[in-house]
Amino acid sequence: MTLDIEAIRADFPILERRLPNGKQLVYFDNAATSQKPQCVIDAMTHFYEAYNSNAHRSNHTLADEATTALENARDRIASYFGTSPDQLIYTSGATEAINLVAYAWARENLGDGDVIVLTEMEHHADIVPWQQLSIEKGVEVRYVPIDIESFTLDMNALEVAVADASLVCVVHTSNVLGVRNPIENIIEMSHAAGARILLDCAQGAPHERIDFDSMGADFVAISAHKMAGPTGIGCLLVKPDAMEQMSPFMTGGLVIKTVSTEGTTFQEGHAMFETGTPRIAEAIGWGAAVEWLDQFDMMEVHEHINEIASWTAMQMREIPGISIYGEPEREDSSGAVSFLHESIQSQDLALLLDEGGFAVRTGHHCAQPLMDALGVPSTNRASFWIYNTMAEAEAFVAYLLYVVERFS
Ligand code: ALA
Repeated sequence: MTLDIEAIRADFPILERRLPNGKQLVYFDNAATSQKPQCVIDAMTHFYEAYNSNAHRSNHTLADEATTALENARDRIASYFGTSPDQLIYTSGATEAINLVAYAWARENLGDGDVIVLTEMEHHADIVPWQQLSIEKGVEVRYVPIDIESFTLDMNALEVAVADASLVCVVHTSNVLGVRNPIENIIEMSHAAGARILLDCAQGAPHERIDFDSMGADFVAISAHKMAGPTGIGCLLVKPDAMEQMSPFMTGGLVIKTVSTEGTTFQEGHAMFETGTPRIAEAIGWGAAVEWLDQFDMMEVHEHINEIASWTAMQMREIPGISIYGEPEREDSSGAVSFLHESIQSQDLALLLDEGGFAVRTGHHCAQPLMDALGVPSTNRASFWIYNTMAEAEAFVAYLLYVVERFS
């Protein structure tokens, strides 16, 4: 292991934070959003201080600098994801990226008789757009169940479901369970059935290198904010032949070639889908984030996070009344530990943990069908990332035991 966690932590000023009650912050809500290193904060601040201007419009020095920085960021981000900048459409995040597939590709290419396969593990962002499409266009939506003993997708059911599908939409890594799905098999099965495949990589991208061109998916949705980048930006990565089948969705400035009272002609490629003033500062920040992440071997990052998560889960299983949803001890699990206590309500437990300085998330995690499958309304979730330490995990387990002994 060559990761120097103390040096990594020094890049994140917020990790020094004390809460109003004087407790040292222990940030275990990384699946909701990661913290941002100083270089990302600096890159965005420098844009606003030194060359804030709109991009792809005016002819002056600042505008040129803003345009160059926006496009350099696209090059850097696309290269990080192993693809060409032509295949990257900036969006507000993974949610908008999935909606873009629903509106710009599926509405044009699917209709009555087509089948879209989802799984019970999906985030609402990868369910609701397809339900809406089903209402509007009559496509059938099928859900692949999870096996609630192993917390994994029922791959036999998936194979049957995709056999006559037109589109398969699967979460790469569950934001609730930390389960990393066998996406290589699923991509192969989908393509063998003649279906396009969309991967929701919002939770996967912070934990492993997404290499778009070699992975073979048709569409990949990513958010910047879970991988050290700012909020408000993400992207859809699209294979060239799939992009050719997409039609304009959100329209206005920039996406056009000409507009007259007779009608409009549109740009081609990613430029057809990026209307309005671009997310310039956010793109610059995300570019800085991928450059920062690029210094690490993501396998080592994964091993570090997995070690903390599996140790934490093993210790928590010994605490009376705690149930864990998922198998964080598995080698491919990605650092989320969802749990409940049998008698302390999840909201109360989160507040008690917050009093101790520990930030965890509580709720349905925008995955109500998964909660239904697990038979619970919500969970508490501790989620770990690159800057977390075993010492923080030990403090968390000790504090959780104290809370449980005192309040149950
Ligand atoms: N999808 C994010 C989470 O899991 C916000 O918390």
